[in-house]
Amino acid sequence: MLKAEPLPLLATGIGKKAVVAITGLVLYGFVFVHALGNLQVFLGREAIKAYRESLHSFPKALWGARAVLLVCLLTHVTLTIDIAAKARAARTTRYKVSAPIAEQGILQRYARKTMVLSGPILLVYIMFHLAHLTAGVVPGLPFKAGEVYDNLVRGFQNPMVAGLYIVANLLLGLHLYHGGVALFQTLGLRHPQWDAHTRHAAFLVTAVVTATNVIIPTTIAAGLIRQ
Ligand code: HEM
Repeated sequence: MLKAEPLPLLATGIGKKAVVAITGLVLYGFVFVHALGNLQVFLGREAIKAYRESLHSFPKALWGARAVLLVCLLTHVTLTIDIAAKARAARTTRYKVSAPIAEQGILQRYARKTMVLSGPILLVYIMFHLAHLTAGVVPGLPFKAGEVYDNLVRGFQNPMVAGLYIVANLLLGLHLYHGGVALFQTLGLRHPQWDAHTRHAAFLVTAVVTATNVIIPTTIAAGLIRQ
């Protein structure tokens, strides 16, 4: 008698989607905590410096977290590209609007449409961000290792840099909102009774992250936070 062998997780479309959802959740958690940490710039130079030093005082944990984040980001991006390519190859006609999508609001529909575009743009933004504030290697932007406050203020005093962060973080907001709603569907956690709550929760967390990430460059560019 033939015995059905379980397929490895990444051998099926739904398995890949589940991994995309779980890695997305880890990245979501990171951007939320990172945004709240960055709010300390409003408490002044010493507060944000102390916060950074407390994170760097556990090098093993820091490097462990960096490794997990990198693996999650690479897996999330690679699998998303793979799923999108396979879906495009398999589809001969365009989808008709399905019932759950028809129920979505304008923001969610727009977020869904920009998902494929926002992913690669965000990847470029993250590379720029690391070159700017972690490695300090962006030409024309002064950088002093460990001086987070000065690096942020000097960086965002440049309107081009502030503008880039604002646009990228608005796009990140759309990506997080759609991703936040979609992951409940992928993980089979949708239920007509919870759907509205799920959407509201994804909207609320995304709004906090996006507002924080937009307010920081905006207030610095406007001269409300100075060196
Ligand atoms: C306006 C919004 C943001 C500000 C002000 C900001 C600020 C910073 C600063 C100051 C650092 C350097 C910390 C240090 O010296 O240790 C940093 C690192 C980092 N940021 Fe951001 N960030 C923002 C948005 C984001 C977003 C949206 C992402 C991801 C999508 C992100 C991902 C990272 C990563 C991965 C690091 C490296 C962390 C490490 O050292 O391991 N940041 N950010």
